[in-house]
Amino acid sequence: MMANEFQIAALLFCLSTSAALAQDLSAGETSFRKCRACHSVGVGARNGIGPLLNGIDGRRCGSLDGYNYSDANRNCPLTWNEAVFMDYIKDPKLKIPGTKKLFSGIKDETEARNLWAYLRQFGRDGQPK
Ligand code: HEC
Repeated sequence: MMANEFQIAALLFCLSTSAALAQDLSAGETSFRKCRACHSVGVGARNGIGPLLNGIDGRRCGSLDGYNYSDANRNCPLTWNEAVFMDYIKDPKLKIPGTKKLFSGIKDETEARNLWAYLRQFGRDGQPK
């Protein structure tokens, strides 16, 4: 049987969206290089200068056991999700005044979105969700 136009269109749509997704994740992984001096994520991630970022999607701000947060970050009333992260990462000191984090931020919205897409994949144990 020959594929009709609808099937071809559907196939092309699937191919293009999965390619776009793959690109977002790899762009996000590249962008994460800017965080690596202080943060790690994935299997075997450990707290460093900054807290490890596994399970960040839905994690309460400042809630990780075993990491020595500033009072500002520990007591911040936020739960991490895409909107909160986007707002925070463009200027961390503005979103959490008094944070000890020395990082000017990521101003580019597409870059920040790709970075979130990359980070949110990792569950609490560092495995992809
Ligand atoms: C120079 C070191 C440094 C860099 C670079 C850095 N961070 Fe941080 N980050 C920290 C520190 C330190 C904290 C804890 C701040 C506190 O306790 O006030 C933190 C906290 C965070 C938190 C809050 C975690 C929580 O449990 O509430 C997130 C999310 C975060 N950083 C994401 C990022 C991302 C994404 C990047 C890269 C774009 C990045 N950071 C770059 C040092 C850094």
